[in-house]
Amino acid sequence: MESIDSDKLQQFSLQTGNMVASGFNCAISLIGDRLNLYKSLYEIGPCDSQRLAGHLELSERWVREWLHHQACLNQIFFHEESGTFELSPEAFAVLVDENHPAYLMGAYDTVGAVFPAIERVEEAFRSGLGMNYDDHGPSCACGIERMGAYSKQFRLVPEILPLVPGINQKLNEGTKVADIGCGGALATIAMAAAFPRSSFYGFDISENALNRARENAAEAQVSNVAFLNPTESPLPQDGSFGMVTTFDVVHDTPYPNQLVESIFAALEPKGYWLCEDIKGQETFAENLKENPVAGLLYGFSVMVCMNSGLSEPDGAGLGTLGFTRNLAEKMGKDSGFSSFEQLEVDSPMNNYYLLKK
Ligand SMILES: C[S@@+](CC[C@H](N)C(=O)[O-])C[C@H]1O[C@@H](n2cnc3c(N)ncnc32)[C@H](O)[C@@H]1O
Repeated sequence: MESIDSDKLQQFSLQTGNMVASGFNCAISLIGDRLNLYKSLYEIGPCDSQRLAGHLELSERWVREWLHHQACLNQIFFHEESGTFELSPEAFAVLVDENHPAYLMGAYDTVGAVFPAIERVEEAFRSGLGMNYDDHGPSCACGIERMGAYSKQFRLVPEILPLVPGINQKLNEGTKVADIGCGGALATIAMAAAFPRSSFYGFDISENALNRARENAAEAQVSNVAFLNPTESPLPQDGSFGMVTTFDVVHDTPYPNQLVESIFAALEPKGYWLCEDIKGQETFAENLKENPVAGLLYGFSVMVCMNSGLSEPDGAGLGTLGFTRNLAEKMGKDSGFSSFEQLEVDSPMNNYYLLKK
C-alpha cells in the first residue's frame, strides 16, 4: 500500500467534511425557506435569535442553532460585537427573491425530493432501470419549476421568442403551439398570456407537473391553454402546429429520437422547434475543465435526469449534460429538419437551438 501524505489526508478529510455539511445544509436551508427564516431575517435586518424567533413565533433554541449552522457556512453573516445575524442582499437574491435571475432555492427543493430515492437508485445501479419524475413526488416538480422560473417569466417572451423569425406575427395572428415536457408550465403560460389569439398545449408525462400546470394556469387566468398527458393524448402527428417548444426536456426523456421525430411530424411546413437544453460540452473532460457547476449537474443527472432517461427499458439515459449542441444538430437533421441554428441567448446554464421543418 502506498504511504499516506498526512497533509493531503487532512486536506481531503476537510473537503469531505465540507461536502457532508452541504448535505445537511440542503435539509436545513429548505426548512429555512419553508419557515420564512431567510426572508424575515432580511426584512428585519441584523438581529439575534430572540428577535427572529419572536417575529415568526418559532422556538428560539431551534432558530439559534439554525442561525449558527447558516453562519458557519457563510450563508448569513454574524456580527460578533452585537451578537446579531444578517442576510446580505446577494444571499437574498439567491435564496429568497423568486424574481431574481440568480434565485436557486428551487434546487434545494429538488435535492430534498431525491433523498428518499436513495434505495431505489441503489437498486437502479444493479437493474439499470431508473425512476421518472413522478416517482420522486410533487416537490421534485415544484423544485424544477422554481429553478427555471426567471427565464420563463421574464426572458422568454420579450427576449427569446423574437429570435425566431416571424414568430411574433404568427402568434399574434393565431397559431397552435405545443410545449412538450411543460412541467409547471411557466413557459406555456407566459406565451399564452402574451398571445391570446394562439392556442397553447402543454404536454407532460408527469401527473404532478400537470397538476402544477393547471394550478398555475388558473392563477394566471389564461384560458388559451390545455394540459395533456401524452401517454393518453399523444402529440398530434398532423403537421398542424406553428411552433413546438421544449425547455430542458430532451436530455430527460427515455426515447429522445422518438420525441424529436414526433415534434417534426407535429409541425406544419416551415414550422419551428425552439429547444432549450443544458449547456453540456461534447466530452466529459471539457465539462470537468470548463463548467464550474459540472459537479452539481452530474449530481442532478444521477438522481433526476439520467434517472428519468433510464426510467423505461432501453431508455437512452442521455443525462443532464448529454444533449450537446452536436447531438442536437445531428438528431434534428436525422429527423428531417431542414435547418439548425444555435441562438445567441446569454445564459450560464442553457443553450437555445432553433430548428426549422
Ligand atoms: C426538467 S423538467 C422541465 C420542465 C419545464 N419545461 C421547465 O423548464 O420548467 C422535464 C419535464 O419533461 C417531462 N418529460 C420527459 N419526457 C417527456 C416526454 N416524452 N413527453 C412529455 N414530457 C416529458 C418530465 O416529466 C418533466 O416534467
